[in-house]
Amino acid sequence: MKYGRIAGWGKCVPQKVLTNADLEKMVDTSDEWIVTRTGIRERRIAGEGETTASLSVAAAQQALDRAGIRASDLDLILVATSSPDYLLPPVSSMIQDRLGARCGAFTLVAGCTGFVYGLATAQQFIATGAYKNILVIGAEIISRNVDWTDRATCVLFGDGAGAVVLQASETRTGVLSFVLGSDGSGAEHLMMKGGGVVMPMSQRVIDERTHYVRMNGREVFKFATRVLARAAAEAVEKSGVSLDDVDLLIPHQANLRIIELAARQLGVPMDKVFVNIDRYGNTSAASIPIALVEAIEQGRCGENSTILMVGFGAGLTWASAVVRLGALEPPRFAMWQSIPGRARVRARVAMGALSMRIGALLLPLYARVTRR
Ligand code: ACO
Repeated sequence: MKYGRIAGWGKCVPQKVLTNADLEKMVDTSDEWIVTRTGIRERRIAGEGETTASLSVAAAQQALDRAGIRASDLDLILVATSSPDYLLPPVSSMIQDRLGARCGAFTLVAGCTGFVYGLATAQQFIATGAYKNILVIGAEIISRNVDWTDRATCVLFGDGAGAVVLQASETRTGVLSFVLGSDGSGAEHLMMKGGGVVMPMSQRVIDERTHYVRMNGREVFKFATRVLARAAAEAVEKSGVSLDDVDLLIPHQANLRIIELAARQLGVPMDKVFVNIDRYGNTSAASIPIALVEAIEQGRCGENSTILMVGFGAGLTWASAVVRLGALEPPRFAMWQSIPGRARVRARVAMGALSMRIGALLLPLYARVTRR
């Protein structure tokens, strides 16, 4: 059995910040309404020239660097998005080309749940031994699909990308379990009707603005509170670890009230829940990978941490996964990873001290040689 260790992680969010105060000037809303109903204070919005592919490439490059591998080492690229650069070609191939990778690539559409679907899919290729290095990206530029005159949706979303490199490993790390769910009977609650096959782009679509995201917020809210805790609990049960062993819950960042409710239903205290919705809003398929990257960067999780991811979104879909982080250092430090915990720290300190001694010994010699 091969496990998929998270060997690299990266994120890219646009520079441009759109605050609730900015939105107050655009639609009939208030900072107070947005904060109390959603927990969002600001979000990032892609600027001219920024695309789903460009954010993805930046996030992916960071993940590759951290994994200590090159794009040419990748065996597969998997991109979860509902806002690709074009309908054709698939954005995954554009990303593959720009990274300089020589491998298969495909785009996966499962709404905001896409990244967890992607992780579970990548894990299968690794478990069968087919592939060793897989790049999984969650990326969105939803701001271009949002109706900026519709206060019910435009205050919720933001743009960004997150990526991980999943690498074959013999130790039990990576995706320990997952649950994938779909209930298409609720499709109408979150839709972009215009511009597809049923309603091709036309003047009527533009006039009726049906090419923008439309959402029945109350129904999606009810759905989310119904499935989130259940899906998370199922993944924990399948993983064989107990909920107490979970170090961090990383939920899809759609609404702080939904996150708090799910945590309460699960019995997980909020200090074990990662939240960054206040700064990014709902970045759809990018929300969980961006949160994962920030959680690692902030030290909220680290080597051997057990993480519970859970998301929901258009479809309607939901997905959860228990993920164990393995060693977080690139393979060039593999020698160190073979030394267990504290012994490794002592060995590193000893090596540091030794190299300083050698330096101190060589310095007078160097000074004498250069004086001549
Ligand atoms: N500013 C001020 N008032 C607003 C705004 C706004 N931006 N938006 C709606 N309102 C008004 C409504 O018009 C309504 O007014 P009314 O009572 O006079 O009709 C009132 O606020 C309450 O509206 P509700 O829709 O009932 O508000 P609710 O408390 O349900 O919050 C929200 C709305 C935040 C959208 C919530 O329903 C929600 O978060 N739902 C889940 C959405 C979600 O998670 N979507 C993403 C999942 S999938 C994906 O990520 C792509």
